[in-house]
Amino acid sequence: MTDPLRDWHRLAGTSVLLDGFHALKHAVRFGAEVPVAVAVDRRTALALADELAPDVRDALDALLTEVEPDVYASLVPRPHPTAVAALAVRPSREAGLRALAHTPRSAPVVVLDQPRNLGNAGAVIRLAAGFGVTGVVTTGTLDPWHPTVVRGGAGLHFATTVERLSVAELPDGPLFALDPEGEDIRGLKLPDDAVLAFGSERSGLSAALRERTAHLVALPMRPQVSSYNLATSVAMTLYHWSLTGGAPAS
Ligand SMILES: C[S@@+](CC[C@H](N)C(=O)[O-])C[C@H]1O[C@@H](n2cnc3c(N)ncnc32)[C@H](O)[C@@H]1O
Repeated sequence: MTDPLRDWHRLAGTSVLLDGFHALKHAVRFGAEVPVAVAVDRRTALALADELAPDVRDALDALLTEVEPDVYASLVPRPHPTAVAALAVRPSREAGLRALAHTPRSAPVVVLDQPRNLGNAGAVIRLAAGFGVTGVVTTGTLDPWHPTVVRGGAGLHFATTVERLSVAELPDGPLFALDPEGEDIRGLKLPDDAVLAFGSERSGLSAALRERTAHLVALPMRPQVSSYNLATSVAMTLYHWSLTGGAPAS
């Protein structure tokens, strides 16, 4: 039998931290490879699984090793209320690029252009998973697999495709960039193969992204308000797509 703590220390630098029961539950449900998982109280964790995730209960039973509270605390940046943590294998960039390039696409790709806020990125990945989008791409320096993003995304990175790319590497498809100066979204139908781009919290869409887009799209907003929060803008746009979305335009 392998030593889970030795595995943890060997893998921690290259793996995705699943911080808390819900992140582990989602990751396992959506097919993540989880080499090591720990809980301060296995019985409580499995009772949570009985209640909230009976579909993955047996998988969690096989994965979870009980550890002392101080050992658990030494493995995570800050203890989670469920006192559960695990490491998952990060999907390869090649697999991500393949999934993003796959056509015909039946749901949009969301692009966050140079996002700054890790919590926003996590919230967007959770939305993307909920709406079943093809993937979330970030441009710029933020790592979309940062532990804080994974925590914000509740482990749902594994339910979609998540990659960091340059603007030049964005997947093909009609590009719709969201901006308060654009055309009112209520008059538009967003195709299923759309690439939906959103600007950064501080400065909006980059020049490189603007140059590539044929469609600037606005969310309804009264004139005195400058803009919505990034993640809520993604939520409104995906909801609009879910109501009006149609066959691929290209
Ligand atoms: C917080 S806003 C950026 C505000 C920034 N100061 C600017 O100059 O655009 C982040 C992103 O959310 C989207 N967004 C926010 N409000 C929007 C609106 N009313 N219509 C379309 N997109 C919006 C845009 O993609 C925007 O770049």
